[in-house]
Amino acid sequence: MGSSFEERKDNKNDFEDYFQIDEWRIVEKGFSPDKNRFAESVMSLGNGHMGIRGNFEEHYSGDSLQGTYIAGVYYPDKTVVGWWKIGYPEYYAKVPNAADFIGIDVEIGGERLDLAQWHLEDFKRILNMQKGVLRREFTAASPEKDNRIEVSVERFLSLARREVAAISYSITPLEKPVDISFSPHIDGNIRNEDANYDEIFWEEVDRGVHSGGGQLTLRTKKSEFNVATAMRSELSGLQVEEGTGIEREPIERKKFIAENIQVSAERGQEINLTKYIGVTTDRDYKKERTAARAEDRVREAASCGYDGLLDEHVGEWQEIWRDNDIKIEGDKKAQQGIRFNIFHLNQTYTGHDPRLNIGPKGFTGERYGGATYWDTEAYCLPFYLNSKDDEIARNLLLYRYHHLDKARENADKLGLDGALYPMVTMNGEECHNEWEITFEEIHRNAAIVYAIYNYIRHTGDRQYLADYGFEVIAAVARFWSDRAHYNPRRDKYMIIGVTGPNEYENNVHNNWYTNRMAVWCLNYAFDVKNYLEKEHPERSEKLLSRLELTEEELERWRDITEKMYLPRWQEREIFEQQDGYRDKKLDKVSDLDAEDLPLNQNWSWDKILRSPYVKQADVLQGLYFLSDQYDRETKKKNFDFYEPRTVHESSLSPCIHAVIAAEIGYPHKAYELYLRTARLDLENVNRDTEDGLHITSMAGTWMAVVEGFAGKKAEGGELSISPMLPESWDSYQFHLNFQNSLLQVSISESGIDVELIGGDPLTLTIYEDQHRITRDSPAEVPLSGGEKRNG
Ligand code: BGC
Repeated sequence: MGSSFEERKDNKNDFEDYFQIDEWRIVEKGFSPDKNRFAESVMSLGNGHMGIRGNFEEHYSGDSLQGTYIAGVYYPDKTVVGWWKIGYPEYYAKVPNAADFIGIDVEIGGERLDLAQWHLEDFKRILNMQKGVLRREFTAASPEKDNRIEVSVERFLSLARREVAAISYSITPLEKPVDISFSPHIDGNIRNEDANYDEIFWEEVDRGVHSGGGQLTLRTKKSEFNVATAMRSELSGLQVEEGTGIEREPIERKKFIAENIQVSAERGQEINLTKYIGVTTDRDYKKERTAARAEDRVREAASCGYDGLLDEHVGEWQEIWRDNDIKIEGDKKAQQGIRFNIFHLNQTYTGHDPRLNIGPKGFTGERYGGATYWDTEAYCLPFYLNSKDDEIARNLLLYRYHHLDKARENADKLGLDGALYPMVTMNGEECHNEWEITFEEIHRNAAIVYAIYNYIRHTGDRQYLADYGFEVIAAVARFWSDRAHYNPRRDKYMIIGVTGPNEYENNVHNNWYTNRMAVWCLNYAFDVKNYLEKEHPERSEKLLSRLELTEEELERWRDITEKMYLPRWQEREIFEQQDGYRDKKLDKVSDLDAEDLPLNQNWSWDKILRSPYVKQADVLQGLYFLSDQYDRETKKKNFDFYEPRTVHESSLSPCIHAVIAAEIGYPHKAYELYLRTARLDLENVNRDTEDGLHITSMAGTWMAVVEGFAGKKAEGGELSISPMLPESWDSYQFHLNFQNSLLQVSISESGIDVELIGGDPLTLTIYEDQHRITRDSPAEVPLSGGEKRNG
């Protein structure tokens, strides 16, 4: 009975060493078809505008999840329910698997190259995170073994030209001269594996193909997004001029265009095909111009050439790494883990378009439909706030501001005042498909307001409150006021019938986190109102009259903040997760057998709901958000009680626990949880990486390092750090963007070194002491305890 996460992991995980440890690359050496979906997720590429899984270019008859996703394009897939109830969302928005544009069919001497059939030697799939390039190399012999070729393929989705992708595909015959046929194509005959009714989401609008390339335009049914994909292919490595000795034949059929290119190659002669791709949508252009724009993109790309495009793209990555890298010395596994997380965050969201957001799986799979969850505000925002220009975080806030009317409609549909932001959304409308669970997770509303608070204290951009923030804050406060009810028997306000962040409890009463955050939102609404009245009196007057905020309503808000019921377990001196939690059989995770875990794959839902097990930070999520309002002892007592009962079956869980563990002096625990989040996908810890990567929890990995090990806080708008050095690390270094100052923080056994590398001088608290940091005076402070902590 009972085993720690580390032991369990050691027992079962045959994914742990699948990829080689390398600081900048993810290297798959040798091909394992049974792990292909897992590797495809890990090897995904994205550039904010689009993304593709690590699928093969050539035909592959083995198991694979083909995936191409275009940002902001969704399909409203009709909800599946047994018994329809009022309030169910009509549809679950899904990012549709879009036209496959990487495809290049290859025939060697008339035999079709298929990695499921051919004999492979020296197979390598390498994701170069420094350059944002995916490469494959292998030698393949045809089933009869009379053709042997060497293949190397490289591709990237340009960060410099977001609508452009490029592939360089090279073949060298090893045994004898052969005829090679390439068929670069765009294939719109694709489907989503998770389609609720097996529907095809796309219809064709237009297609055209000619010698040299072509375009295919598809439209999503119902939501009517047009997506045009254009291609252009060039051959090189020939002994003759292109155009002589080569046959090119355009091919087209419904939702499919290709060009068949035949060429003869000598033994040892490398033939290269470069495929340029352009992908445009009518989110950016008029419908009738979308296809022409995609063709423009490939024409421009071809005239720049593969190497030119690659240089531009690598240049963009260089800038990203200069600003966003976390360097860890002495622990290559940890280094690879954190870079993998930072890499994928940057591939998923670039922050230039406030209509876009961050899906829990980014562009790496179908799960969670590419929709926006509270994950963005609660977990992702700190990464973007501290590592990017303020505009990026601001765009994440504006995304919600633009959805305010829909959030009002959403509250109204449930018969409530104010605004209720959706748990799952593409366009502001609620579209969750796990209705029974997520419908009652009204706590997400608090995260939207908390994000505004977090943004203001990091950027100092208080103007945002006057321009946009207060409208959102007031609408959410109004919702809480209506959703809470007064209970005269206890003389308390209560919020009943909710699901807290811990989704392994549904329809509970008085979830401490939800009630606590509701009070916090109401108090913050007063703070902001007071600030506006003082600093922006005219705007404030206009806003208050537009929002029709009466004294009576404000009085109720005040009353709620004073009389909200917040369940406590007095004898244990902890907050009680919800009414009645203490009456459960309070077993710990260590009481479980290894085979029980993960519970969500082994236990009935009924058994899970009855159990005391916590899926993810719940009370602790509140102590994390409102960290400055609780002392260390309170955090420790709650951690000691809840963490041993937490199964961390949401990828969002370990990071919050790691941050608190570091703060309360549990360095071993903090490190164990850090590793669990940093290498979650590289080692397939939750056994679901094949569905896609856990993108939103990747920002949590960043939190575990910067807010956990380095103890960074921004309480009251003042920056402080309180670093420790994990035992297995020699040093670590990162940048912090805070209120117009850019700092470089380096932590090693010899001390903490903070330099101002951009922007204005600032006052930083290190441990207990304040330091004024200017260009000429960095801070140099010994590491507390003088030695490494943890294990
Ligand atoms: C978690 C939620 C989260 C969602 C998307 C669920 O497993 O419990 O908190 O919002 O995944 O990441």
